[in-house]
Amino acid sequence: MKTITLHTKNTTYQLGISPLGFVHHLYYGPKASGDMSALLSMRDRGFSGNPYESRNDRTYSMDALPVEYPCYGCGDYRSPAFNISDEKGIFGADLRYKSHQLEPGKYTIPGLPAVYPDTSEPDDIQTLKLVLEDARLGAEVTLYYGIFPELDVITRTVSVKNNGKGVLHLHKVFSAALDFISGGYDLLHFHGRHAMERLMERSPLSHGTLTIGSFRGTSSHQHNPFVILARPETTEDFGDCYGLALLYSGNFKCEAMMDQYGQTRLMMGLSDDMLDYALCPGETFYAPEAAMAYSSAGLAQLSHIFHKLIRTHVCRGRYRDIRRPVLINNWEATYFNFTGEKIINIARQAASLGVELMVLDDGWFGRRSDDNSSLGDWYVNEEKLGCSMAELAESLHGIGMKFGLWIEPEMVSEDSNLYRAHPDWAFIIPGKPPVMSRNQLVLDFSRKEVVDYIFAQMTEILDHASVDYIKMDMNRSICDVYTAVSGRQNYGTIMYRYVLGVYDFLERLTARYPNILFEGCSGGGGRFDAGMLYYTPQIWCSDNTDAIDRIRIQHGTSFCYPSCCVGAHVSAVPNHQTGRVTPLKTRAVTAMAGTFGYELDLGTLDAAEKQQVQKDIAAYKSFWPLMHDGMYYRLTDPNTPCCAAAWAFVSPDRTEALVSVVVLEMHGNAPAVYIRLKGLAPEKQYVITATESAAAEGLAAENAVSGSVLMHTGIPLPAGLTQYDSIQYYLAEVSDQRRFRKV
Ligand code: GLA
Repeated sequence: MKTITLHTKNTTYQLGISPLGFVHHLYYGPKASGDMSALLSMRDRGFSGNPYESRNDRTYSMDALPVEYPCYGCGDYRSPAFNISDEKGIFGADLRYKSHQLEPGKYTIPGLPAVYPDTSEPDDIQTLKLVLEDARLGAEVTLYYGIFPELDVITRTVSVKNNGKGVLHLHKVFSAALDFISGGYDLLHFHGRHAMERLMERSPLSHGTLTIGSFRGTSSHQHNPFVILARPETTEDFGDCYGLALLYSGNFKCEAMMDQYGQTRLMMGLSDDMLDYALCPGETFYAPEAAMAYSSAGLAQLSHIFHKLIRTHVCRGRYRDIRRPVLINNWEATYFNFTGEKIINIARQAASLGVELMVLDDGWFGRRSDDNSSLGDWYVNEEKLGCSMAELAESLHGIGMKFGLWIEPEMVSEDSNLYRAHPDWAFIIPGKPPVMSRNQLVLDFSRKEVVDYIFAQMTEILDHASVDYIKMDMNRSICDVYTAVSGRQNYGTIMYRYVLGVYDFLERLTARYPNILFEGCSGGGGRFDAGMLYYTPQIWCSDNTDAIDRIRIQHGTSFCYPSCCVGAHVSAVPNHQTGRVTPLKTRAVTAMAGTFGYELDLGTLDAAEKQQVQKDIAAYKSFWPLMHDGMYYRLTDPNTPCCAAAWAFVSPDRTEALVSVVVLEMHGNAPAVYIRLKGLAPEKQYVITATESAAAEGLAAENAVSGSVLMHTGIPLPAGLTQYDSIQYYLAEVSDQRRFRKV
């Protein structure tokens, strides 16, 4: 068997091409050398058929062997990654190896986000193009592998070209498949709902298929396009695990299955539900990109790989590496009830406490005074504001604040001039009453003229007012998919083109306004995925701003996404979503694990609280380099019954750390709680200071404690903390002269 081997710094990936031209997956795991084809076990197995050419050798079966890109029709009866039919409706592919080449550099994908090389950190990046062919259909299927050795990541995508004479119908073109010949695995996936997104669930795989995905038009609140396959014994600090993230913001599917022989298959890609993509002769289809990584040292290390990947090879733009301004958003402060003057007053108060950016949320356009009208009418409601947008921007800049604006370009209200003029621009099936959500409809962004029109409306505003930040929202799931411009309708195709339309809109907007900071949003975190992060380097994490719920949401989010992508704000108490009352400090500590901002009228706080806000903003600014460059460690799991939630940022050289702890539950006469740290250097001595000295009762600042003790036994939490209290510890390596003070 001819093999192709890809190496990253710590991993090896190997494919094998059989004499019949079938491509098998041989190995993905810790770095290794040699030919792994001996790992394949060839056996005669009943009801697992054989390729025609090897019918006398009944031990060769695609149904039992690991396949690199499984297709329906080759005798593999497990769920395929690829499914195609011809003009007559005949299903059945026979993909065989045609050629391959290894090229320097990274491939790109037309119209879709893709991991890019970071020029500031040279890496010897290569692309493997492996071409498979179905001679009968005239289909050429190219598997792309982007190899990032230093990053320890391999990216994948697939293109399908029709070299034949008839139209081909694509029913499934997943981006990546991974077959494992040995071992049972758990699937870690991130489920949720609006206002409670990305909660980690660990499901042991058993015979059959565990499928997660989205059918809502966006990647969704309900499931995230990132999963982890881990051995049952794998923990944060120990064991094998694989991560797979899809850079796509629409309908997706992930299938994790255990086959009849106990083997595991993990696949992810564009959803195949109701997909019938007509590929005409000469045309090429591109699947979204998937990124995969392996860790031999548990989940924390896997997260670190994905954090770096997303931070420096997915996020783009001016704000990629710089601290984002501390913002204040008026949504929970005013909802729709504001004037320009009220916004300026909120901003003035916030500016005096150290806030740097005022974001004007929903309600500034058309005749919008609640959520029943005006989406699509993107002209400024000067009557409501009492000034033009340019004047508002100028006033805010005058008080030293940057200015941000909320938009929701993909939507239209029935009660809008746009809908009255172009009812066929909305997704509605003729003759069927559309499903409504928040009383709004979705614009058909699969049509270029619709995207162009909305784009022109946006540029009209942004060309005339000095805007520093855009929050781009998307506030409903998509239904009633019908495009008025085409006779042939296909749900899956229209939804794929819809996402390409959204990406085209964002690509043009971000290119035209390179100085604007873009934040993604979809009712909070309904489109929190690596595809969107290619355009918007941060995303509003959840509409739930309750600190305690947020800790759980941010915990799940942290498995794939770095803190600099996580929009997080301090809001008022009782919290608007849960009614819970938490200390201001705790809300700030929680928001500091994200992009940090406020979402309340700071003028309503008393003098002590205002002082606290000033201190928290100053702390955020001073800890930002550590939080940005540092490695993030989950120290407890807040979704299990535990006393405290805790997380830490540790500097790459392990000389500094910031540990945040929030008390979740308190009991009478409670035992002492120790927070065990991670990621420190065992041999180093650390001086620990609680960032607010009043709480530093547990450990005196002059004590130095060794990394091994802190990781083995932990920091004892001080007595006297009550439910929802928080404490932050700053750890710095003691200088050589102070080593004698070690504990
Ligand atoms: C969504 C967002 C909120 C806010 C509202 C405005 O729900 O997630 O933050 O912008 O829309 O309508």
